[in-house]
Amino acid sequence: MTTTDPSQTSAWQALVAHAEQVGPMHLRELFAADTDRATRLTFDAADLTVDMSKHRVTDQTIRLLLDLAAQTGVADKIEAMFSGEPINSTEGREVLHTALRAAPDDSIIVDGENVVPDVHEVLDRMAAFSERVRSGDWVGHSGSRIRTVVNIGIGGSDLGPLMAFRALSAEVHPNLDFRFVSNIDPANLLDATAGLDPAETLFIVASKTFTTIETLTNARHARDWLLAGYDGDAAAVAKHFVAVSTNAEQVEAFGIDTNNMFGFWDWVGGRYSFESAIGLSLMIAIGADSFHEMLSGFRSMDQHLRSTPFDHNVPVLAALLGVWYRNFLGFPTHAVLPYAQRLDRFPAYLQQLDMESNGKSNRLDGSRVGYDTGPIVWGEPGTNGQHAFYQLIHQGTTIIPSDLIGFLSADEDLAPQHELLFANMVAQAEALAFGKTPEEVAEAGSAPDLVPHRTFEGNRPSTVILAKALTPSVLGQLVAFYEHKVLVQGAIWGINSFDQWGVELGKALATQIGNELGSASPEPDKHDASTNALIEMFLNAGSS
Ligand code: F6P
Repeated sequence: MTTTDPSQTSAWQALVAHAEQVGPMHLRELFAADTDRATRLTFDAADLTVDMSKHRVTDQTIRLLLDLAAQTGVADKIEAMFSGEPINSTEGREVLHTALRAAPDDSIIVDGENVVPDVHEVLDRMAAFSERVRSGDWVGHSGSRIRTVVNIGIGGSDLGPLMAFRALSAEVHPNLDFRFVSNIDPANLLDATAGLDPAETLFIVASKTFTTIETLTNARHARDWLLAGYDGDAAAVAKHFVAVSTNAEQVEAFGIDTNNMFGFWDWVGGRYSFESAIGLSLMIAIGADSFHEMLSGFRSMDQHLRSTPFDHNVPVLAALLGVWYRNFLGFPTHAVLPYAQRLDRFPAYLQQLDMESNGKSNRLDGSRVGYDTGPIVWGEPGTNGQHAFYQLIHQGTTIIPSDLIGFLSADEDLAPQHELLFANMVAQAEALAFGKTPEEVAEAGSAPDLVPHRTFEGNRPSTVILAKALTPSVLGQLVAFYEHKVLVQGAIWGINSFDQWGVELGKALATQIGNELGSASPEPDKHDASTNALIEMFLNAGSS
């Protein structure tokens, strides 16, 4: 497969030259010279309003970035994804998470078959099951009503459902408790099951492959915990364990009845899966109607991506700005700062989405890239971050382009404090962009020796993403916005955003070292000197 090397395009070369001119420009100048800037660079996408005016770009920068998108085939990549071409070329798979939110009457053909009816068949089964758990009709082995749902999964089989569960906590069923277990650290399962009654607990084992060691180990221990509460009666498993997977064989081998399995498909990547059956815990929590509302939010952003000209296409523009900073101004990280406590796991969710997708060094044809790819993505909710790491964002030596996500209204009982929250978000975006000059600091009466310390250079770029409220639909729109941003950046960089070979080596070595640690006669000299010494320390600690 041949891939365009973006750095060889004329647009890239023009951007390199252009960065020399625009790089030193200050947002103060850009705003002063252009009274229409805020209006012109604020865009709507479904229910989101996205203010991109506080970026270190001119109209010419955007034109050149749009040329780059054209010269690297972004439009074709978007169409190829939507139409089910196997764009995950290293795994020979289609990339069709957009089919998970297709309307029932849509048609998306994979291997000659329309997959949309299958998607809706699973959604209907999930809805029926969720309703049974929510209403108390699904009871445990001893006839008790289910009170707690424990999702066992990791990576995409955890981060998505967990993030969305927290984001939509206002909608969660009042009589059900939800817990999430992901880590192989036994403390995770121990803490999650603390105080629970096995007779009232339902486990959802969520794993696309059903071979992930963390998930299967936790699921085995959860089964032991359950059976200990039922005097070892294995028949209890059928009422307390359901599985979500693409791998029926492994589900059966684990001992879960495949009638209690909710399937999905190879063409859904793990980090793109929480609106599939992987979201079963979420659907039980918020109900099928809210889940469908979330899907409709995803769908509206899909439509925006597919049908909006690139110069108004919000995920495309966000992707281009990211490329501008990463490749032309040399900013290595990207912060996501939601001004909503309920989005506290959103940055962690986006870390997998973005960094597992675009943390690649080879183009599709296997050649090594000669430019940077995916940024380091990180963040925490505001205002907490303001009292922790914002110092560096404002005055540090690294420029960190940031997304500030805020909401215009809140539940009535949260309204007064919400005003302050919103004020903080807007204030941060203003401070980051415009800073405070030494003259302003001196004029405000600062002691001369403190002027440099109290000066804010500004010129720190940010996007403000606004919606009316954090509804299920808006959450779907936000997630789809970032998914599509990642797609477009991957297309420009010519990489495969949909595989994750980089996780394999660590997994294989962990299995090998795990076997060595568990062996009756360990040979702690199979590795390098450092690794051998660490293994030896563990073995010695165990024997002391
Ligand atoms: O190891 C990485 C990964 O494959 C992720 O891509 C995935 O989301 C996670 O592991 C969990 O995989 P599974 O759902 O198959 O258990």
